[in-house]
This record gives sequence, C-alpha cells and structure tokens, in this order.
Amino acid sequence: MDSALKEGLEGVVVARTKLSHVDGEAGRLVIAGEDVERLAGATTYEQLWARLFAGPADFGSARRAAFREAAPQPDGMDALRATIAAMSTEDPVAVAAAVAVHAAAWSRRKRGLEPIAPDAKLSHAADYLRMVTGEVHDAKARALDAYLVTVSDHGMNASTFTARVIASTGSDLVSAVTGAIGALKGPLHGGAPGPVLDMLDAIGEPARAMEWLSAELAAGRRIMGMGHRIYRVRDPRAAVLEREVEKLEAAGVSTRRLKLARAVEKAAAELLARKYPDRALKANVEFYTAVLLDAVGLPREVFSPTFAVGRVLGWCAHVDEQRKTGRLIRPASEYIGAMPR
Ligand code: COA
Repeated sequence: MDSALKEGLEGVVVARTKLSHVDGEAGRLVIAGEDVERLAGATTYEQLWARLFAGPADFGSARRAAFREAAPQPDGMDALRATIAAMSTEDPVAVAAAVAVHAAAWSRRKRGLEPIAPDAKLSHAADYLRMVTGEVHDAKARALDAYLVTVSDHGMNASTFTARVIASTGSDLVSAVTGAIGALKGPLHGGAPGPVLDMLDAIGEPARAMEWLSAELAAGRRIMGMGHRIYRVRDPRAAVLEREVEKLEAAGVSTRRLKLARAVEKAAAELLARKYPDRALKANVEFYTAVLLDAVGLPREVFSPTFAVGRVLGWCAHVDEQRKTGRLIRPASEYIGAMPR
C-alpha cells in the first residue's frame, strides 16, 4: 500500500461515487451523468433530486412541515447548524427542506422581519426566493434554481467528505449534515461569496480594480472567489453562473455588479498569474455566486446558507451512497512526536 504522506489528502481517492465527477485539468464538472453547463437551467432542483435518489420527493409538504421556531443565532451558518442538529429524522427530503426553510427564516429575523410560511405549490427555488425576499419572480427563481443545481454536488469536497466520514461510522443523517454545515462554513470552502460582494463594493468601479487588488496581494491577503484546489483552469461553474446572470439581464432584471465583476476578475487573474506563474489561479464558483445571488435580491449574509440549500442534496445523496457501498473512512497519520525510551 502507498503510505506516502498527502498533506490535506490532496489527490487521495477515498470513495467510489456515481454522483459527480470533477476534472480539474479540463475544467469539467459532470453531475448525474451530465455536464453542469447542460444541467443548470434545464433541470430543476427537484428533478435533480429525483435523479440522484432514483425517485421523486414532495418538497412542498416537507417545507411546510419544517416551518417552526429556529434557534436565534447571529450567524446564518451557526443558526442552520443548531437548528438542523436539533432534528431527529432519517428522511433526506425533510432535512433538505428544513435547510431551505430555516435559512430563509433566519435571514428574515436577522432583518427584523417575520418569517414567511412556505407555499407547497411553488418550486423549491421559487419558494426559497419568496421565503427570503417576499418576492415571486419567475426569471429570478429560474436563476436561483440553476444556482442550486450547479452547486448541488462537487466530488469529494471538504463538506461532502465530512458527511461521508460521519456516515461511514454508521451514524445518523442529521449528524452527517450537521457536520457538513460546519465544514461548509469556513471561508476556504463555502464562506467566500459574501466577502466577494464586499470586495466588489470596496472596489466600486472597474478603473480601481488593479490598484485595490494589488494592495490586497501586497498585504498578503487572498483574493476571494479566485483559485481552487482542483481546477487548474477557470471553474466551469463560474461560466454557468455568469451565463445565468446574463439571462437575468436579458429578462430585464438589473444586474448592476456584472460589469464590475468581469473587470475585477480580469484584473485579479492577471495579477495572480504574475505573482504565481506556475499556478493557474482563476475565478471559482463563489465569484459569480456573489453576482447571481445579489441580482436575485438575496442579502449577502444569507449567501453561505444558500450554498447549503443547494449542497445538502449532494450531502444526503453521498450519505446514502456511503451507507450502501462505502467502508469505514479511517486514514492514517505520520507520527512525528517523541517515542518512549
Ligand atoms: N488570492 C491570493 N493568493 C492565492 C489565492 C487567492 N485567491 N489562492 C491561492 N493563492 C496562493 C496561495 O496562498 C499559495 O501561495 P503560497 O504558496 O505563497 O502560500 C499559492 O497561491 C497556491 O495556492 P493553492 O495551492 O492553489 O491553494 P489551495 O489549493 O491551498 O487553496 C483555495 C485553494 C480555494 C482555498 C484558495 O485558492 C483560496 O483561498 N481562494 C480564496 C477563497 C475562495 O475563493 N474560496 C472558495 C473556494 S470554491
């Protein structure tokens, strides 16, 4: 057995999956046997759920069942983690519906507004948009649905790995999803889109991008929304989400930050290429997530919880797959401490 140390488990294969495939060299993402470019915009969240679980789910009823008091927490991911942790169910639809309902309810309370009860007749994406913003809007709901599908699964990313590790011990679904929410919260994983929007606001106009980004890099800070552990080219999901924002624009929705985002991405890619000529650091999914979620009217503090609304599909499907085909995940470590004499 190859026992060479792989810091951060980079490149180590720990499971077989039929859910999604990431090719970082080619910039390709396949979910449920289809390229993400074809899937997003053409398949709804519910349809993708039915494909990954080989059966339909009643999200409308599940959302209504999930609508109840949530734990008051200042941070959306903390609130989600606490509320989901308090559930007691093995039904993945109930868990996924609860993530959407509680993310929305938290966001409204945070703004001093009453939570909006779910409408079982709407699609999952349309109802999530309505529960957060109060608005029913077809074009925005379609863009949000495309976003949820785009981020639904992504190989053995850190939160999915967390969920699989927990499931591999024979533990319950709620524990696995709770752990995954904790992993997703970190800024190196799912916490970047809010800061991307902050960055765009701080830059303000395309002409200031170079100067602002240069100063950030000179100060040793990372540019949010740029770089990826797997992709050595531009993240294909960035293009999918950029396309969805263009569609919104064509539908008459104001997407005021798109032009600025493109200029900032170009400047950031240029500066990073200069600083790290051997490492391709291009836009990742979070970059255009920020632009899309902002354009559909979601407040930035609910961006990370919204990522969880999409990714919970993948977590639940991976827990299911792990239970059916996986083995206890238990890697080894290299001991560098003292030995008894
Ligand atoms: N801005 C500035 N420098 C960056 C950078 C960024 N966005 N991403 C990577 N780098 C630097 C690293 O600091 C490293 O430099 P060093 O060798 O001097 O320490 C070098 O580029 C190579 O980094 P790499 O090995 O490619 O990064 P990683 O695989 O450890 O990390 C990310 C990948 C995503 C965590 C990293 O690119 C990052 O922090 N990006 C910003 C946060 C973000 O957008 N997260 C969402 C991910 S979907």
